[in-house]
Order: sequence, then structure tokens, then C-alpha cells
Amino acid sequence: MTTKVKELIEEVKKFSCDNLEDLEVFRLRFFSKKNGKLTELFKDFKNVPKEEKKDFGIVLNNLKNAVSDQIDFLKSKINSTDSSDIKLDLSLPGYAENKGSRHPISMVKNEITEIFSRLGFTISEGPEIEDDHHVFSALNFPEEHPARDMQDTFFVEKNPDILLRTHTSSVQVRVMDNSQPPIRTISPGRVFRNEAISARAHCIFHQIEGLYIDENVSFADLKQTLMYFAKEMFGKDTKIRLRPSYFPFTEPSAEVDISCSLCGGKGCNVCKYTGWLEILGCGMVDPNVLESNNIDSVKYTGFAFGMGIERIAMLKYGIKDLRMFFENDLRFLKQFV
Ligand code: DAH
Repeated sequence: MTTKVKELIEEVKKFSCDNLEDLEVFRLRFFSKKNGKLTELFKDFKNVPKEEKKDFGIVLNNLKNAVSDQIDFLKSKINSTDSSDIKLDLSLPGYAENKGSRHPISMVKNEITEIFSRLGFTISEGPEIEDDHHVFSALNFPEEHPARDMQDTFFVEKNPDILLRTHTSSVQVRVMDNSQPPIRTISPGRVFRNEAISARAHCIFHQIEGLYIDENVSFADLKQTLMYFAKEMFGKDTKIRLRPSYFPFTEPSAEVDISCSLCGGKGCNVCKYTGWLEILGCGMVDPNVLESNNIDSVKYTGFAFGMGIERIAMLKYGIKDLRMFFENDLRFLKQFV
């Protein structure tokens, strides 16, 4: 009997398994109340002759301990491989969240709209897919007029009437469609032009349009409004100058320059040694535009202006390449957090 138990001990020490199910089968084989080997051996104990009882008792206990030890050993081995090799250190500081931030174009757009909202301008928006009427005809672009060529238009599905808006001036028309003066609104949005992509041009960019129509609105109001904007946006020492220009929807029309914020007007390579940087186009709303949008051009006058948001952002932050805004390189974007 004793040798049989000793053999069992050897067998137990050699036993191995790699999952808890097999380990449970092993445990029951020895400890099961019904037919476990140990249970039976302990039952047999009373039949062992008196003089062998002591030795037999010792080996039996050895067997019981061997089985328990083997179970504990295998259990901890299985559990430690289960939770792979991750060692938890609860005292480690947590990982910092990589927070997103506003795109510089959104930031500049918000800054511009805030400046104009201080002057009482509301915000209005229109669709990016437009028709000829809102982008050209209602803005006094005669059909076949070469001014349409100034804006390289993307047409939608070869239909000359449906197109991607080339400027946010189209929103002027929508506002005039839906309301009567006084109108004081700005319209930020995305515009599209069929242009080769370069450091200075892109086929997608952003503009902000401004429109102010009321009784007695004059060119002086336009000038004053733009001067306020320039000083708020680029600093209180900024000067503006207006150069005569042409747009079909304004008469007279002008282009506006600000004094170069880098050299203070002395001349540098950013302003090409002129001391001035162009920022927008503007003018008094052409009476033809008012009339074709059902606004009495005798009673009312107005001014309008339009600027590229990318251009303002480039000047404000000294960015030399327009394409940076569209590449979404995090090294670039993170500078604006
Ligand atoms: N729509 C013009 C453009 O995209 C910009 C512009 C010029 C808008 C003069 C105006 C304006 O409202 O009066 O080039």
C-alpha cells in the first residue's frame, strides 16, 4: 500500500496542464467526495494493520500535500499567463489626452465675424452649390461678359446653370431675396475656383462677404468700417488705403490695402518693398444689383466687401504657403492651439 501511494506522489509531482478545466479534473480525481483517490485511501486507512498505520499515515498526508501544492502551483501559473504579461503600476500618472484644436482658418473666421458683430453685422449663410442667377446674373454679370472669366467656375454635371459658388457674394443675393433694408450682414463660407494649386492659389478657399444697405449709406461709412476692421485685426497702428478697381456688382469699386504689419510700411520682402498688402475688394452696391433684387435704389444705398480668409490668416500669422491650410499637418496645426 505504502509503495503504491509513493508512486502516486511521483505521478502528482509530474502532472501538468495549462487550463483551469483540466486542473479541476485533476483536483476531483483526488479530492472528489464520491470517488476521489484520497477520499478512498483515507477510508482504507482503518483496514491498515496497526504497526503500519503510522508510516501509512505519513505518506498519505504527503500525497494530500503534494496534490494541494501542485494545484496551487498550476493555478498561479495559469492565471499569470492568462492576464498576459501586463504588470499594473497603479501609481503611474495617466496618459495625457491628445486634445484637438480649432483649425486656424476657423479661428481667423471667428475673429473676423466677431469684429463685425461688434458693429452690428449679423451672420448669414448660403449653399456651396449655387445657380448662375445667385453667383453671376443677379450680381450684374451680363451673360457673355468677360468678368465671368475672372472666376474660373466649376460647373456641376455639365449644366451651365448649376455651379460651385466662386465667391460668397452669392449670399448677398439670397439675403436681399429674403429681406428689406436695413440689412447689415456678413457671410463666411467656402468657395471654389478651377485654379492650379500653388503657394498662392487653391481650388478651394474661404471668403467673408459683407453687405450693408440702408438709407444714406455712403462711401465714407465703407471706409470707416474697413478701417475699424483693419485696426482690430492687425493692430491699432494699421493704416488702410483704397485703390480704384472694378467689380460688376459695385460702383465705384475699390481694392483695400493695409500698411505692412511686418515692416510697419517701410518696405520688406513680404510687401514686395511697397509697404502695403492687399486684403480685400469692396465698393458701393451697384443700383442695378439693388433693383434686380427688388430693393428701391432711389431710397437705399449700400456698400459691400469681400475678403479671403486664407489671405487674412497668412498675413496675420506670416504663413507663406496657402497649401499649409489644407494639408492638416499636425506640426503646423498645433502652433495655433
Ligand atoms: N466677390 C469678389 C471676389 O471674389 C470679392 C468682392 C469684391 C466682394 C468687391 C464684394 C465687393 O462684395 O464689393 O473676388
